[in-house]
Amino acid sequence: MCGIVGYVGEKYVPEVLTSGLSSLEYRGYDSSGVAVITNGITKVYKAEGKLQNLKDLLAEKQDEIKDAKVGIGHIRWATHGVPNEINAHPHTSNSGKLAVVHNGIIENYKELRAELEKQGVVFKSETDTETVAHLVAKKYEKTNDLKEAVRLATKELEGAYALCIIHQDVKDTIIATRRNAPLLIGVGEGENFAASDVPAIIEHTKRAIYLDDNQIAVLKADSIELFDAENNKIQPKIELLPWEPIALSKMGYKHFMLKEIHEQPDVIRNFLSGKLHTADAKIVLDEVKLDKESLKNLNRIQVVACGTSLHAALVGKYIIEELCHIPVDVEASSEYIYRTTVTDEHTLVIGVSQSGETADTLTAVKQSKARGSHILIITNRPDSAMAREADSLIPVNAGIEVSVAATKSYVAQLMAFYALAIHLAEIKGSIEENYLKEIKNELLLLPQKIELLLTKKEKIQKCSRMYSSSKNFIFIARGINYATALEGALKLKEISYINATGYPAGELKHGPIAMLDETLPVLSILMSGKVYEKILSNAQESKARNARMIALTDSTDEKLEDLFDYVLNVPHVHELISPIMAIIPLQLLAYYIAEFLGKDVDQPRNLAKSVTVE
Ligand code: F6R
Repeated sequence: MCGIVGYVGEKYVPEVLTSGLSSLEYRGYDSSGVAVITNGITKVYKAEGKLQNLKDLLAEKQDEIKDAKVGIGHIRWATHGVPNEINAHPHTSNSGKLAVVHNGIIENYKELRAELEKQGVVFKSETDTETVAHLVAKKYEKTNDLKEAVRLATKELEGAYALCIIHQDVKDTIIATRRNAPLLIGVGEGENFAASDVPAIIEHTKRAIYLDDNQIAVLKADSIELFDAENNKIQPKIELLPWEPIALSKMGYKHFMLKEIHEQPDVIRNFLSGKLHTADAKIVLDEVKLDKESLKNLNRIQVVACGTSLHAALVGKYIIEELCHIPVDVEASSEYIYRTTVTDEHTLVIGVSQSGETADTLTAVKQSKARGSHILIITNRPDSAMAREADSLIPVNAGIEVSVAATKSYVAQLMAFYALAIHLAEIKGSIEENYLKEIKNELLLLPQKIELLLTKKEKIQKCSRMYSSSKNFIFIARGINYATALEGALKLKEISYINATGYPAGELKHGPIAMLDETLPVLSILMSGKVYEKILSNAQESKARNARMIALTDSTDEKLEDLFDYVLNVPHVHELISPIMAIIPLQLLAYYIAEFLGKDVDQPRNLAKSVTVE
């Protein structure tokens, strides 16, 4: 993961770099560093821990670095080597003249390191990245051309990388290149930028060049040159970024996560606009590029995703099978890619990813594409690597999600599955029109109902306090909300570090029930519908073992107050739509527990927003 930024221009370089890194903190935040060339000398400053430590260090060194016109910065999510100052980037060549920042993993770094050590190179860190610094320096010794040195060195690298490199003998220049890791170039007036992601540059420019794999950019303040791996010059394609800097403000909320939870009604409205205005109309989903005949004849769908996106896919399976009667397989991308999987040109393969950069999902998608499957990508980043692999692309348009824990992007992914399933059902004629109309009507009403729920957060807040000292948590549900139980548990684990597990309620008696006692909270997701009574009996089993009983329900049955210690009510919705309604209080529960425990809600330990390593 990690985030990288490069800047060449007249502004105060450390400020541009650290403010860029601030907006990339979602990619990693265990250490950070910058390298600048000041008075002709490469200087490196690094700090362990949060970015603020680096900012403090740079404030102290202000006099020493004020004249720099070029610099590179890095925020780290450790892969090779513990997160300390030595392993923090930038890494330098033995002469100290060349500095490099890197996102990705160099898979053959051990072999390269052994070879370089034989040649007398001395390594300081445990990282794979330091190999790149030394390798490029060796090539530079021979060619005296930094771009050529980078080109030759990267030919020897295996794995994934986005790199920014500076050298004190190459005045005010950054060499930037990438393979299987994100990197874009920000095009300014008399200044240029390189960054892992849009937020790092959007304050300065809305014009960008997305580098393709193996392309090399040479950035100076007043020029950008682009080359392919064979050293042919390429005409850069400048794109306009559809981003506003305001999107990165907390807008008065204590944390981005809370703001993003509150944005969910608008995310739903936004998703539906242009697609569905009334329940009587057919859904418009021009994003699906398969022709009607192929859609009618689809006989299998394979979905690949990780984490929260995997949970969205599990809900998606349920919706598509219910409305379209097409079998849907869902698998964690990391499992899918290392076994014999069966997809072909008759399978629709759906990749789901908020970031569009998740390495495992990207690999799974590429594998299926090579086998001839139509690739549909559901993502919040239409500018991502995964989006570029898509035959059909459904951008979920949730807006930038800063908090590492996914909330609004999850709800937006669910919306994409509803839209897709309704679209397929309408083409196939697989379900009664009145039923579809009811579902569409429920989707249109959903934003107001969630708004109503969000005005009544106090009870969830109170419940969170009551259960915040629990060491373990169980979430149970059945049917379409089994995935909600998994997602509720994941949210809690991620930001509060409480051990939480989601189970299909019927499975409780097959093992997990042994854990129940008066210390363990069991939260039952009891949404009206086919399995309501079943979950209720499963909840009784927990009550009989003295578990601490919480219900999340849209039912108004007063008897629930007798069975449960705590009842969290949500507005009533159709069962098929209930995963969206049910996840909101669980996001809030996780949020308030983490906040009450004083955890770093937006940047939980060990996690990163964009997981570009396998
Ligand atoms: C959970 C979370 C992660 C991601 C997972 C996949 O809050 O954010 O579990 O869902 O890392 O990431 P994407 O969706 O970007 O592929």
